[in-house]
This record gives sequence, structure tokens and C-alpha cells, in this order.
Amino acid sequence: MRVLGIETSCDETGVAIYDGDAGLLAHEVHSQVDLHAAYGGVVPELASRDHIRRLTPLIRLVMARADSAPADIDGVAYTAGPGLVGALLVGAGLGRSLAWGWGVPSIGVHHMEGHLLAPLLEEPTPAFPFLALLVSGGHTQLVQVEGVGRYRLLGESVDDAAGEAFDKTAKILGLPYPGGPALAKLAELGEPGRYVFPRPMTDRPGLDFSFSGLKTFALNAVRDELASRTDTEQAKADIARAFEDAVVETLVIKCRRAVQAAGVERLILAGGVSANRRLRARMDEMMAGRGGRAFYPRPELCTDNGAMIAFAGYQRLAAGEQEPLTFTARPRWPLDSLPGIGVEAQTG
Ligand code: KG4
Ligand code: ZN
Repeated sequence: MRVLGIETSCDETGVAIYDGDAGLLAHEVHSQVDLHAAYGGVVPELASRDHIRRLTPLIRLVMARADSAPADIDGVAYTAGPGLVGALLVGAGLGRSLAWGWGVPSIGVHHMEGHLLAPLLEEPTPAFPFLALLVSGGHTQLVQVEGVGRYRLLGESVDDAAGEAFDKTAKILGLPYPGGPALAKLAELGEPGRYVFPRPMTDRPGLDFSFSGLKTFALNAVRDELASRTDTEQAKADIARAFEDAVVETLVIKCRRAVQAAGVERLILAGGVSANRRLRARMDEMMAGRGGRAFYPRPELCTDNGAMIAFAGYQRLAAGEQEPLTFTARPRWPLDSLPGIGVEAQTG
């Protein structure tokens, strides 16, 4: 079975083709970073319009790269939520229409399920059950995963998501949008331990997160330190490092706790922030110390992409799921409300 996947939930237009036998045949992403940079963040209406402009040519390109004609496609998967409703409707409308025109089934995929299953596109493939840390611009969630669609939410952020905290702190430091990668790059130059930010909510039991307070620490540090230090650029790098270390260590502490409680030795990380190098290194260390292992998608599949949607859609279509001619975009959609489809992922 060969599935076309479409992602348009936010500011990346992603398209891919996943084949049950041959694996990922092609994937392309068009990023809207330049479009939104002038506004310092995503402008929903501009995002929708750009998806409309980019999606059809991108589908043509991916079909050509995958050497696939419409007759070769057995199903269409698109992101149905969560995300920006106007942006979602572009992918959902075109995806559902293509499936109807081609006479194949379609399926609306949960964006976070896409992220969560993305590590299964890599070798070695983590076997179920495992724990998943989902860290993106909109979500920070710890999930116990028994199989595709069998998710139990163990903890989540009570305020800002990890990626959101990176983006807001980057803004405070005067870095360009999107802030996460820029802050991580600046932190490389920072002196570790020059400033120490708190590790929020690690002094009490539980697996929830809170990252909004770190913004205040960054704001105060910028106000106090940039005024008193002459080496302004180094001071900014030191603050970036303190912030990054605080987020990374907090995530590591909570994951260690979750892994211990669940008694599993496999942890997967997914979502944009899982591209962060320091986070990966510290999670590797923590899991190796327990005789376990951490798994990640390649960096380009950590951030939003069509491959994860094609793959998640393939899992569900191959299990016989499909939708009627109507479709829905669901801006809010709890991950643990999804139906389970069994314990074995179909990795082709
Ligand atoms: O998964 P994603 O592409 O989109 C959402 O579903 O939200 O995640 C985007 C988030 C942004 O907040 C971005 O700043 C953050 O991931 N991000 C990073 C890094 N790369 C992307 N944060 C920290 N370090 C990175 N290297
Ligand atoms: Zn995402």
C-alpha cells in the first residue's frame, strides 16, 4: 500500500509518499519561515494562503520524486488537527478531494501521532511498548505508548510548551524567528553554569511541566546582566545556555522519573525541540545509564513534515480505517482519544 501524506497544520507545507514495502519514497517540506519572520511569529491567514499556493506544486514534485502516478497511490493521509484551522482546512480539503478523485480512501491524521510515530521511520526501530516525550511548539507531553493509537497521557505542560518557551526566550534575547534553533546555536557559545535557572516543578512528584516562569528569569537576566556587563554578546550567550540547560535538565528529570515508574527501557523523543542537540545528548546519557536507549527521528523529521503524516496515515489505512466523504479539521483534539489499532506497527 502506497500513501500520500500532507501536512499543513502550521507554517510548514509538507508532502511525502510512504510505501508499505519500500518505505519512505520521497518527502519535501516548504518552510514559511521567511514569510512570517517580519511579524516575529506565525500569521494564520498568511499561513493558509501560502499552503494553498505551495501544496499542489509540492505534491507534483513528490509524486515525480517517488516515481508515482495517481494510479500508484492507494490512500491519502492529511493532518486533521490539532493546529491552525484555516491551515488545516487547506490540506484536509485538497487531501480529501484527491482521494475522492482517485477513488482511494483517505484518513485525517492527528499531528502529534505523526510526531510520535516518526521515530519508527528510522533504524533501529523502537519496539512497543515505549515512553514518548513530545516536545513541539504547541505541546509538551509524556505519553505511555503500547501500540499505534494506544496512548496514555502521563504528564503535560500546564502553561507554555517547551518550543514556545524557546521561541519566547529567543525573542527576549533579540534573536530572529523561529527562535528555538537560533537560541540553541547561541547557547553553544555560552559559558555553562555562569547563570543557573530553576528546573520548574521537579521538586514535587508528578510528570507535568511548566515553562512559562523561565521567560521571567530570562527577562530579569537580560535586564540585570546586559546592563552590568560590557561583553553583551557573551552575556546573551550565557543566558541562552542557562535557559537551554534548565529546559533540557527539566525534561531529563521528568523522563527519568517516568521511565523508572513505567519500567520500560525505551524512550522516544519527537517534535521540533527533539532536534536540539544538547537534549539528545543528555537523554542518550540518561537512558544509557539505565541500560536503555533513546530514539529520535533524523532532525528533518523532528520538525513538521509530510513523512510522519504519510507514515501514521499508512498505519491506520493499512488497518482498514477510512473516513466518509465528509472531513473535519479539529484545531483541538486530545491525543489519547484516538482509537488503538493493535500492538504491531507496520514498518514495511
Ligand atoms: O514540531 P514543530 O516543527 O512544530 C509544532 O508542531 O509546533 O516544532 C517547532 C518548535 C518551535 O518552537 C521551534 O523553536 C522548536 O520546535 N525547535 C527547537 C529546535 N528546533 C526547533 N527548539 C530547540 N532547539 C532546536 N534545535
Ligand atoms: Zn509539529
